[in-house]
Amino acid sequence: MSNANRTAPVGVFDSGVGGLTVAREIMRQLPRENMVYFGDTARVPYGSKSRNNIIRYSRQIIRFLRTKDVKAIVIACNTASALALDAVKEETDIPVIGVIVPGARAAVQATQNKVIGVAGTEATIQSETYTKVIREMCPDAAVIGKPCPLFVPLVEEGFAKHRITEEVIDIYLSDMRQTDMDTMILGCTHYPLLRSRIMAYFGEKVHIVNPAYETAVDLKKILDESGTANLSEEAAAYEFYVSDAAEKFTRLANTILPYDVAATKVVNIEEY
Ligand code: DGL
Repeated sequence: MSNANRTAPVGVFDSGVGGLTVAREIMRQLPRENMVYFGDTARVPYGSKSRNNIIRYSRQIIRFLRTKDVKAIVIACNTASALALDAVKEETDIPVIGVIVPGARAAVQATQNKVIGVAGTEATIQSETYTKVIREMCPDAAVIGKPCPLFVPLVEEGFAKHRITEEVIDIYLSDMRQTDMDTMILGCTHYPLLRSRIMAYFGEKVHIVNPAYETAVDLKKILDESGTANLSEEAAAYEFYVSDAAEKFTRLANTILPYDVAATKVVNIEEY
């Protein structure tokens, strides 16, 4: 494997800032890996879009990331992982991973009573991808899905700590709190930014899973096994791109990442 391949960046994308929760975990677990992040801020939210559009968006973003010579792609978006991963994986000759299999695995490992909740976007929950993947791993698991569409704009608007968010959490998750679910997956990459609030809402009896951790573990394994992990001692370089509103993205990114994002560039993604 050539040196160039090892130092090539990893491509990471989401509809907006949510995927930064995955990027943050990759920075922690794979500190040598260079990264190119794309947030589709012109077209967020993905959760209310059709499968065809989500596949089209994902294809365009992958074409853009490939112009940056990425060596692997992480779909840091549950909605795109649920609806587009299978389609784009087949047509891409570098590894492409999503967040659903890692998230489901973490939940199956954590649950004691096999009652697992999944909070996600409308599209993710309707696709029932989490249910299918969890049942493949644990056939007698009960999966309770709940769409929480307002969580995404609350996060994108920087309202994670606002009191209104507490009310929205109660509106969406009160039914789940009545069940005997012992594990809940934050099945949208925006939701870990509400994690402490959601944890406080359920209390200690519910284990909250953020799929980002296991996704970074899987990425590390793929890079190690394919001989493409970056061995360089140089500090990793990160680049950030969005399809709109770069300044707002930069501001939010700096509250999420353990890294100072100096600038975010705007890309006309419809050209790809
Ligand atoms: N953060 C994304 C996800 O994990 C998408 C949220 C949205 O754009 O609706 O599903």
